[in-house]
Amino acid sequence: MVFQKKFELISSQKLSEKIFRLGFFAPEIVKNACPGNFVHIRVGDKSSPLLRRAFSIFDLDLKKDCFDILFKVVGPGTEILSRKSTGENLDLLGPLGNGFEIPKGDRSPVLVAGGMGIAPLMSLAFYLVKNQKIKPEKISFLYGERIKGGFVCLEDLKELGIKTLLATEDGSEGFEGMVTELFLRKVKETSFVKDSPIFSCGPHPMMKTMSELSKKHNLFCQLSLESHMPCGLGACWGCVVKTNRDGGEPDYKRICKDGPIFDAREVELD
Ligand SMILES: Cc1cc2nc3c(=O)[nH]c(=O)nc-3n(C[C@H](O)[C@H](O)[C@H](O)COP(=O)(O)OP(=O)(O)OC[C@H]3O[C@@H](n4cnc5c(N)ncnc54)[C@H](O)[C@@H]3O)c2cc1C
Ligand code: FES
Repeated sequence: MVFQKKFELISSQKLSEKIFRLGFFAPEIVKNACPGNFVHIRVGDKSSPLLRRAFSIFDLDLKKDCFDILFKVVGPGTEILSRKSTGENLDLLGPLGNGFEIPKGDRSPVLVAGGMGIAPLMSLAFYLVKNQKIKPEKISFLYGERIKGGFVCLEDLKELGIKTLLATEDGSEGFEGMVTELFLRKVKETSFVKDSPIFSCGPHPMMKTMSELSKKHNLFCQLSLESHMPCGLGACWGCVVKTNRDGGEPDYKRICKDGPIFDAREVELD
């Protein structure tokens, strides 16, 4: 069920120069949301920006009926959002999207995040440990950033007890290189990755690499994809991704409605 109404902003935290965490009291959304869902937010009161902006649900608190989003300021919409104060009411639409498929059984999940791709994967990590009661030491969290200072949520991961492998492009922390290179090393070194459910989110080139690796090594990997989303409801076809299952006829799917979670072996990313 999808709701559209004004919800109160109850917390606002600046985590770094450009990264913010906002919390909303939104019982309707919280009761209907699952990891991988997102909300569409009208950030301005005026006509500009006209279109809503999409943000993954980052943390759900079922007891307090609230949820958080985590976002980076990249343009006018996120800049306006970063200036909102607690007590303000914002027009939200959600929960939207299909959410991650969480396989049953005790196979060890592998989560691979790049940059702000951390947001939907943290909601999954919270869910796996708190709701699915998966032992945190069974979860591998691979997390890449450009530089050491770019990481967020490391304390949250530590509190959850999840072992986290970091990668930085300049080698200032953890593995030197892209997180996808670290992931490939794991695939080659350890047999468990091949049997594991893998979940990934990050910038478009990273999603393309994860898709290619999943096809090549036949991995069960779910990608959380992003795109500009004019309506968020499946009506405008402004957010399509090309898919091709088993080498058949190509098809186009809407990231907002059919996704944002897709099997990495199914999508064809440019
Ligand atoms: C399902 C979904 C979930 C998302 N979750 C998060 C999240 O949890 N945290 C977060 O920080 N961001 C998230 N995003 C991206 C977020 O929606 C955009 O950063 C935001 O809309 C930018 O708005 P803006 O007005 O500030 O910038 P704009 O002026 O719209 O864009 C600024 C720059 O960012 C690029 N850009 C904007 N939107 C996207 C996008 N969706 N994908 C790739 N590039 C984009 C533009 O091309 C431009 O270069 C998500 C997007 C989708 C579709
Ligand atoms: S944003 Fe309109 S169909 Fe996806």
